[in-house]
Amino acid sequence: MCRHLRLASALGSVAREMTDPQAESRQADGSDSLSFQHESVMAAEVLDALAPCPPGPVLDATVGGGGHAALLLDARPDLSVVGLDRDDDALAASSERLASFGSRALLHRSAFGELGPTLDGLGVGPLSGFLFDLGVSSPQIDVADRGFSYREAGPLDMRMDRRQPFTADDVVNGYPEADLARLLSENADERHARRIARSVVAARPVRDTAALADLVRSAIPAPARRTGGHPAKRTFQAIRIEVNDELGQLAGALDEAIGRLRPGGRGAVLSYHSGEDRIVKARFDHAATGGCACPSRLPCACGAVPVATLPRRSARTPASGESERNPRAASARLRVLERLDASGSE
Ligand SMILES: C[S@@+](CC[C@H](N)C(=O)[O-])C[C@H]1O[C@@H](n2cnc3c(N)ncnc32)[C@H](O)[C@@H]1O
Repeated sequence: MCRHLRLASALGSVAREMTDPQAESRQADGSDSLSFQHESVMAAEVLDALAPCPPGPVLDATVGGGGHAALLLDARPDLSVVGLDRDDDALAASSERLASFGSRALLHRSAFGELGPTLDGLGVGPLSGFLFDLGVSSPQIDVADRGFSYREAGPLDMRMDRRQPFTADDVVNGYPEADLARLLSENADERHARRIARSVVAARPVRDTAALADLVRSAIPAPARRTGGHPAKRTFQAIRIEVNDELGQLAGALDEAIGRLRPGGRGAVLSYHSGEDRIVKARFDHAATGGCACPSRLPCACGAVPVATLPRRSARTPASGESERNPRAASARLRVLERLDASGSE
């Protein structure tokens, strides 16, 4: 059953994805922090990107711990936030954090793959802006029982929405070797995908995340174990993306959100790996060209109508200070779009 919450307090913290999403939860003394003490990624840049939004509702399609949403509501009293997340723990954190904004924060449990019916069901009209801050949140990583962590033993789970029956166990212990290798390569650019897939299949049944992390470590060549962070990082990322269909929902959700922006409305997307950023760039380019495929040196003859403009052609990256302070931000890419009116002007 969907939860539908109107919510509470500017206390609390922020959830985020990162270059190595598990790096920051481990403290200098080797212990793990279960608190929500994190900064929202590229917060100043996100606020800057959404500053020209006209008054009205802004969709936060991945509200997480509510960090970006709280900053936006603080900065812009003329905006409200419709915050979605498919994780009940994330919604509990954002509900506490945003409670003091009262009816300006409307939170709802849903995947952004169901954006159209969700916004229609909530009675949300044209959007003044939207934000997608993709990937996993700190609570998902920090709680070993969620099964996202390659640093601790936990069940092979990795579901953001724990109502869904499909888990990491179905992938790790059920996928044919070729499919496992394909997803490691496609979802995480894992160079040793075939070796890892072979080892996993040979060791079945793999019982938990610690066993999976050990298998990956032994499957890859010794020199590769010493470079590029934890050897299981990419394998866990690839399986997590598969379990949660993270790439499959993105293009449709972005098209839906762009289509619902009012003229002058702004959309911002933070992505954290190349697969996500490719999809964001393609959908933003499509909106900015109307899908025109005419040769670039010739006038458009296909009648395509652009529905948006891109304030910057390239993605923004975090300032070096932020990446140094917060390793989770290091791989972030921020893309921004502004909706034109129906005639193609701003
Ligand atoms: C990086 S966190 C968001 C952090 C948030 N911007 C903040 O500042 O607190 C990403 C959140 O998106 C959620 N999420 C990921 N994919 C989703 C999807 N398809 N639909 C809804 N929520 C999703 C995750 O559960 C997670 O809580």
